Amino acid sequence: MPLKNRKSLKHLNQDLILNNSDNPNIKDIIQKNISRRHFLQATTLASGLSLLPRFIFSKTLDNVQYMDRPKSLGFKSIPPAVEDTVNVPNGYTAKVLYSWGDPVGIKNQSPQFKKNAANSAREQALQAGMHHDGMDYFSLPMNTQSDSHALLAINHEYCDNGLLFPDGDNNWSLNKAKKAQNALGVSIIEIKKNSHQRWEVVRPSQYARRITAQTPVLLTGPAAGHRLMQTKQDNSGRMVLGTMQNCSNGKTPWGTYLTCEENWSDMFTNKTGRLSELEKRYGIKKKEKTYRWSEVDPRFETSNEPNEPNRFGWVVEIDPYNPNSTPKKHTALGRIKHESATVDIGNSQKVVVYTGDDEKFEYIYKLISKNNYQPQNRAANLKLLEEGTLYVAKFNDDNTGEWIPLVFGKSPLTPENGFKNQAEVLIKTRLAADKVGATKMDRPEWIAIDPKIRGSVYCTLTNNVLRGEQNKAGTDAANPRNNNIFGHIMHWQEDKHNPESLSFTWDIFAMGGLLNSTNTNWTTDIETVSFGSPDGLKFDHRGVMWVQTDVSTEILNQGPYNGVGNNQMFAVIPGSKEFKRFLTGPCGCEVTGIAFSPDNKAMFVNIQHPGETGEGISDPKAPRAVSSWPDAKTTGRPRSSTLIITKDDGGVIGS
Ligand code: FEO
Ligand code: CA
Ligand code: CA
Ligand code: CA
Repeated sequence: MPLKNRKSLKHLNQDLILNNSDNPNIKDIIQKNISRRHFLQATTLASGLSLLPRFIFSKTLDNVQYMDRPKSLGFKSIPPAVEDTVNVPNGYTAKVLYSWGDPVGIKNQSPQFKKNAANSAREQALQAGMHHDGMDYFSLPMNTQSDSHALLAINHEYCDNGLLFPDGDNNWSLNKAKKAQNALGVSIIEIKKNSHQRWEVVRPSQYARRITAQTPVLLTGPAAGHRLMQTKQDNSGRMVLGTMQNCSNGKTPWGTYLTCEENWSDMFTNKTGRLSELEKRYGIKKKEKTYRWSEVDPRFETSNEPNEPNRFGWVVEIDPYNPNSTPKKHTALGRIKHESATVDIGNSQKVVVYTGDDEKFEYIYKLISKNNYQPQNRAANLKLLEEGTLYVAKFNDDNTGEWIPLVFGKSPLTPENGFKNQAEVLIKTRLAADKVGATKMDRPEWIAIDPKIRGSVYCTLTNNVLRGEQNKAGTDAANPRNNNIFGHIMHWQEDKHNPESLSFTWDIFAMGGLLNSTNTNWTTDIETVSFGSPDGLKFDHRGVMWVQTDVSTEILNQGPYNGVGNNQMFAVIPGSKEFKRFLTGPCGCEVTGIAFSPDNKAMFVNIQHPGETGEGISDPKAPRAVSSWPDAKTTGRPRSSTLIITKDDGGVIGS
């Protein structure tokens, strides 16, 4: 089957083109400046897949700026693998800490995972959800840098009805939809090193909490209360039931967790087929067979509740230290399919949040807060994301770029163009960004900030097999490959090294692809460094970049990905050309979610969807067809899990 026709359970819309806007900069651009750019050679572009991966070290940064970080990685790179297990380098241990169905740890309410997923909907709301994704570490007590006691906030992105129920999605019912809703959202767990220096989940814990697709969440910002946010259930337009499709994440300096609603449109249908412009632009469909919520829960059928979808697609802030706090959806950050929300503080103390919209040909955004961060005033900081200006990125083909404001009243975001106020600009963020000429990207996934260089930001562009197809956008300088099977990693440097700047210079840090023996430009101690579909991306405190991959199961180890192995994680030292494979995952998984203890001696990684077949939902009669990881031989189901990885000598990870 051609790649573009394959279906992934997780990204139901990935075969569609939702962005049909006619932005001037996304028309085919003759690559007139390609020869100027040192990192792209004509042969590479012509052949599409050749001579890769390739890591580039920006001309916009001098070597001095790469100093003050490790010169090398002190482990031997591991080979690609296709076995149904987690591999890490010699001298490291990876252990399963928290799997789907494990009790989160609420006092007197800790149901164990029942074999073959026989737990009820009520029990699922007290247990780890499915499909762990973004994650962060919060030292305990608050305002410490504890390396031995912490909270982990963990996203549960979506559900697989074939694994979630003993009989899959047969006998579909409202009760089943409720269990599915309880399998999404966020876990807050307490973790601690025991007397043997081993990390374990603390149960019971006063902090333990599950936030699900049924938990009340407060809306803030310009769109809160707007007519388009009001429903039969909530005529205030200010209180939503739940967050869902929580993909990547962010962490604020004031100790809160940001969780991002990504593929939320998959949960809705409009059975009339008379889709509004907004429904079309965000990918709502007439029928949906994977999740089936709208068949039994009228909240998710838009001919019944036309505004309910407007209440999803936001960034949600959660205070993990206060289990009684109400999570907040911050509408100032725009309504898209948010992948991550990565936070920095600008030179005048404004908060800057970078976020991308993960769909083919969508955009990269940043919010600059109205008010300043005050290190000593947590109560004020908890309101910072309620007000600010949202910008969208334009990557010019001369390697400069600009952040374009999405502000109502500023042409073209005016009533004549369908925007009556700032609330509408934010509810229709994609349409607003179309109007201002933002650059259509190859599926923005995670965004990471280099802790060693101020204003230096990276974004994984995971792939886009439709670029260059007939009637679709062709290449531009920032998305230089048609049929971009392997993806790339973008880098930009904010002007004046200030995250608040509205202009930047950019380059391409890495092109995914297959290693070819003629790639002499790359030095590494591993034989094969082929990789593709970069997704998870984070720097550790030492300035080492960690890259996780999400090659879709349909093409894993096949076609162009033959020989690349199961999804994996790499460590890279920008500026040194060090690039090593650190972890390979079990069969059918993606590797995603990264967090570190402050001393960098504990690393937390999520293994998502082990056993995914690539054929839609799993077969409940053969749940182990692809993977038994980590314990399916006893529990009957492969389970997404959080790993804790430590060095056997107790040292710093990667040293
Ligand atoms: Fe949930 Fe774009 O990954
Ligand atoms: Ca992702
Ligand atoms: Ca992905
Ligand atoms: Ca995946």
